[in-house]
Amino acid sequence: ETFDATGLHILPGAIDVHVHFRDPGYTHKEDFESGTAAAAFGGVTTVFDMPNTIPTVADGETLKAKHAIAASKAHVDYGLYAVLGEDTIDKVSELIEAGIIGFKCYMGNTFGRIPTPSTGAMLEAFERVAPTGKRISLHAETNSVMERRQKRLTESGRSDPLAHLASRPAVVAVEAVARAAILAEWTGARIHILHISSAAELGPLRDAKARGVDITGETCPHYLMLGEADYARCRGIIRVNPPVRESVNNEPLWAGLLDGTIDMIATDHAPHTPEEKTRADIWSVDCGFPGVETQMPLMLTEVAAGRYDIRDYVRWSAVNPAKVWGLYPKKGAILPGADADLAFVDLNHAWTLRDADLQSRSKISPWDGRSVVGLPRHTMVRGRFVMKDRALVADTKGHGRSVHAIQQMPEAKPLHTDETLAAVIADRPEAAA
Ligand code: NCD
Ligand code: ZN
Ligand code: ZN
Repeated sequence: ETFDATGLHILPGAIDVHVHFRDPGYTHKEDFESGTAAAAFGGVTTVFDMPNTIPTVADGETLKAKHAIAASKAHVDYGLYAVLGEDTIDKVSELIEAGIIGFKCYMGNTFGRIPTPSTGAMLEAFERVAPTGKRISLHAETNSVMERRQKRLTESGRSDPLAHLASRPAVVAVEAVARAAILAEWTGARIHILHISSAAELGPLRDAKARGVDITGETCPHYLMLGEADYARCRGIIRVNPPVRESVNNEPLWAGLLDGTIDMIATDHAPHTPEEKTRADIWSVDCGFPGVETQMPLMLTEVAAGRYDIRDYVRWSAVNPAKVWGLYPKKGAILPGADADLAFVDLNHAWTLRDADLQSRSKISPWDGRSVVGLPRHTMVRGRFVMKDRALVADTKGHGRSVHAIQQMPEAKPLHTDETLAAVIADRPEAAA
C-alpha cells in the first residue's frame, strides 16, 4: 500500500497531558472511545486522563478497572492519573504498581467534588511521592477564598457568567502555585502546574524554576485566546475552572510560552452535555468544555499568522510533554514510545470549527464558528493510521496502549540535603552553597 503525503507536514503527534474522558461514571458526557476518537481527529496521539471519574481513581483496584476500560476502547495511547490526597498517602506504591503516569492533587474544588488536602497533608504526600520520581500535577487554586466569594455573589443574586470569573480571582491560583512550589522545593517532589490562566502565576513559577525546583507548567488555548468579552457571547458555555480571565492576560501567557516559563499546551478537555452547559443559573452549570480536537488547529492558526514557528508549537505540544513525563528516548536509545506517533497536517487549510462536527460527545464549546488555518488530515499511532482523510480507521478501537509501561523518569534528586536544610533553617545560606 502506498501513501501520498504531498502538501502535508508530518509533525510528532501531540501529547495532551490533561483530558477528562469521564469513563467510568459519566459516559453520557464522554467515554474512552469517543474521547480518543476526538484526540485522533485533533492530531493527538497520547492523552493523560484525569482521575475524577466514578469511583475516583484513588486505589489500585479502581485503577486496574479503568485500565481495562481504556485498553478495550482507546484509539490512541494514554496515561492514567491517580488522585493524591489526604486519604491516598498510604496508597502511593499500590497506585504506582497498578500503572500510573503521575499523580493529580486537587488543591481547590472543581468538577467531581474531590476532597482537597490540607497543606500539612500535601507536605506529607509530597514527601511520600518524591523518592518515586513520579510527577505531581496540581489543580492549583485555594479553596476558602473562592468559596466565600461565590457564597457572597450567590447571596447578592448574581447569576451571570462573569460572576464565576469574579468568584475565582487570579490570587487564588497565584497563592496555590507559590505554596505548591515551596512544598516541592523542601520535599524534592517534581510538580506540574495545570491550566495556568493568569499572568500573575508566572511570577511564582519563574521564581521556583530559578531556585532549581523541578516544576513545569501548562496553559490551554482558552487562556491564550479568550477574554472577558467572550462571556456575553458564550454565557455558561465558557464557565471553566480556573475561569477564562481578562484579555490583558493573553499576551503575557503567550510570552511565558515563548520564553519557556510555561512548558507546554494542554487542553483540559472537560466535556459536558449541552443541557449541563446551558442552565439559566450559572452556579449550576458544569465547568469545562471539550478541547482535545481543536487545540492543534487553534495553535497552528498562530503559526500561519506568523506569531511563532512550527518548531515552537512542536516543542509545546509534543517534545516537552514527552520529556517532562519521561516518554522521550534517551540519546542513542530506541523506545517504543517514539515509534511513528504522527500527525499529518495541512498547514494551509483554512476552515471553520463547528461544535456539531466534534467527535466528542460534548458538542458544545466556545470555539463554534471560529476561523482556523491548519488541519490534521491523518493521524498515526505506533505506525498505524487511526484517523485517515478525516475519518476514523476501522478496527482501531483498542489499539491504544498505556504509556506508563515505557515511562522512564530520571532518578529522584532532592534539592536539599539534611545539611542544606539545616543551614536554611539556621538562616546560614552561605553554608548551603
Ligand atoms: C474539569 C472537569 O470538568 O473535570 N473542569 C474544569 O472546569 N476544568 C475539572 C478541572 O480540571 O478542574
Ligand atoms: Zn483542574
Ligand atoms: Zn482538568
